[in-house]
Amino acid sequence: MIDLRSDTQTKPSPEMRAAIAAAEVGDEQKREDPTVNELERRTAELLGQEEAVYVPTATMANEIALRTLGEPGDEVVGEENSHIFISELGGAAVFAGLMTRQLRCEAGRFTPEQLRETVRTGDNTHTPGTKIVSVENTHNASGGRVWPLEEIEAIVATARELGLRLHLDGARIMNASVASGVPAAQLAGTFDTVTLCLSKGLGCPLGALVAGSAELMVAARRAKHLFGGAMRQAGIVAAAGVYALDHNVDRIADDHARARRLGGAWAAAGLAVDPDQVETNFVFLDVGPLGITTAEASARLTEAGVRLSDTVHPTILRAVTHLGISDEDVDRAAELVPQALGAARVHA
Ligand SMILES: Cc1ncc(COP(=O)(O)O)c(C=O)c1O
Repeated sequence: MIDLRSDTQTKPSPEMRAAIAAAEVGDEQKREDPTVNELERRTAELLGQEEAVYVPTATMANEIALRTLGEPGDEVVGEENSHIFISELGGAAVFAGLMTRQLRCEAGRFTPEQLRETVRTGDNTHTPGTKIVSVENTHNASGGRVWPLEEIEAIVATARELGLRLHLDGARIMNASVASGVPAAQLAGTFDTVTLCLSKGLGCPLGALVAGSAELMVAARRAKHLFGGAMRQAGIVAAAGVYALDHNVDRIADDHARARRLGGAWAAAGLAVDPDQVETNFVFLDVGPLGITTAEASARLTEAGVRLSDTVHPTILRAVTHLGISDEDVDRAAELVPQALGAARVHA
């Protein structure tokens, strides 16, 4: 089975497992775990932030960030299909008491003008005030699309002018950095808080970090404890993170090249794929023109030995390349998918 459902499908390599086995550990809650401390130091530096806090998941990192940045009744603004809005069970409301304002836009990227039109000052006795802007880079629900640096700079400048705080859901910020050739510190350093996930393209079994100023990270550590995320000998898994920062960042370019090759092959075979939109490790495949549902397409593909996954878009399936996917897998998927779906077209 060629599993292209998500880059969360990665499994630790033998070398990563060796790093895990050799990890020096201590009590993470007391900040006595040298491996966690090292991972936090390295990540803060990587993201251009003062400090980083290690947590089990990117969802927890996002929720800690939102709770740290806002007060109950404040508004958080972001693209309508952002992970924080559609995939975290309303955590922004549950844990931080935030109102959410969703923006509709292309490729997951909103403009300074949209932000200006949306922001509420909250200066009367009725209206909640906008407090936080959330950017997702790369943007999952639009197909791993990348925010160009100049658009980030424009949003950050506008948000600052409007007195807003900024969160970056950079679960896949290293994909954005590798794709655009811009150092992660430049993409992430101007935000108040940043999430980085280790268990996607970076290939760790689990783990994420939330980064920000030393002052905000004091609040973040308290929220982490409140959420039950303060751990003990967590260096066992943090060692995978240190290994990933050393060995699994540059190779992300291979995932991107494979996604481009897959998208190109499927488009050439007549499938509804826009190769220009393959900016990182996601390929969006629209099965609508074939006259079949995504459920039917997925069933045929699974039978053929390839797994894709649903997206928030009713007729679109996605393929995501990652370190468990080889060139041979791409060659086979390039053939198998059009065959399986071509058969569907004949029978439709
Ligand atoms: C953009 C983004 N943020 C956050 C997350 C949350 O990651 P996890 O499910 O590992 O907590 C995901 C997961 O897919 C994601 O795509």
